[in-house]
Amino acid sequence: MSWLTEALKSSLGRKLIMSFTGLFLIIFLVGHMLGNMLLFLEDGGRAFNEYARFMTSTPVIQALSMVTYASIIIHAVYSIIITLKNKGARPVGYAVNSASANSPWSSRNMGLLGTIVFIFLIVHFRSFWYEMKFGNIPMVSYEGTGEFKDLYSIVGQAFSQWWYVLLYVVSMIGLAFHLNHGFKSAFQTLGYTHKKYTPLIEGAGLWFSIIVPFLFALIPVVMFIKSLG
Ligand code: HEM
Repeated sequence: MSWLTEALKSSLGRKLIMSFTGLFLIIFLVGHMLGNMLLFLEDGGRAFNEYARFMTSTPVIQALSMVTYASIIIHAVYSIIITLKNKGARPVGYAVNSASANSPWSSRNMGLLGTIVFIFLIVHFRSFWYEMKFGNIPMVSYEGTGEFKDLYSIVGQAFSQWWYVLLYVVSMIGLAFHLNHGFKSAFQTLGYTHKKYTPLIEGAGLWFSIIVPFLFALIPVVMFIKSLG
């Protein structure tokens, strides 16, 4: 197994780990966004609460959740390792090379953007994930069903506070830049560079990075407006 440890410690190995975990998290984001779209329904939260119960009590999904948590931790830890190694390899900045002229802002600030997303995740987990798993959530029942945890009311309560909505909107702008750069570099690391297809992949990445965070940001904004009555 020493070849595996060596491969994981190599510069390319580290980048591959970042790419695989990042691409998995991108797939997670699509599913999470589609599920959260249920919050837009005018059904008193029934579909969302049923969905939340399904997501937190189905064994296959619970296993996928473990992969999601592991991916977030590995992605964050490796980003720190890569940054430290890069700094160690180049303790003094290049004198002539102007970073701002050679690479886009988002690629030079992946650490900052990743930190914004990480802080967002800590607040997000505390407010929703922790409440769903360990909190004292009010119960609700609908015609012909048993009782459900009313996660919809917890989400609605959170998004009735303007500063919470602002935190989500700002974090989603950070997420958009982070995704745009991450999408490109993941495909680069995996070796998909092609005269014809690379611009297509980059275009798809750009649209993805705009649409997904936009829809995520729209949820708190719409729920805040609804909360005003
Ligand atoms: C308005 C936007 C969002 C809403 C309303 C929302 C809502 C929720 C809720 C209610 C939960 C707990 C219940 C569950 O596990 O399904 C949850 C979990 C989670 N959210 Fe979000 N979320 C939003 C955006 C995001 C974003 C942008 C990210 C990532 C950058 C994210 C990452 C996660 C993760 C990793 C979990 C844990 C999933 C699991 O346990 O498998 N969420 N979210």
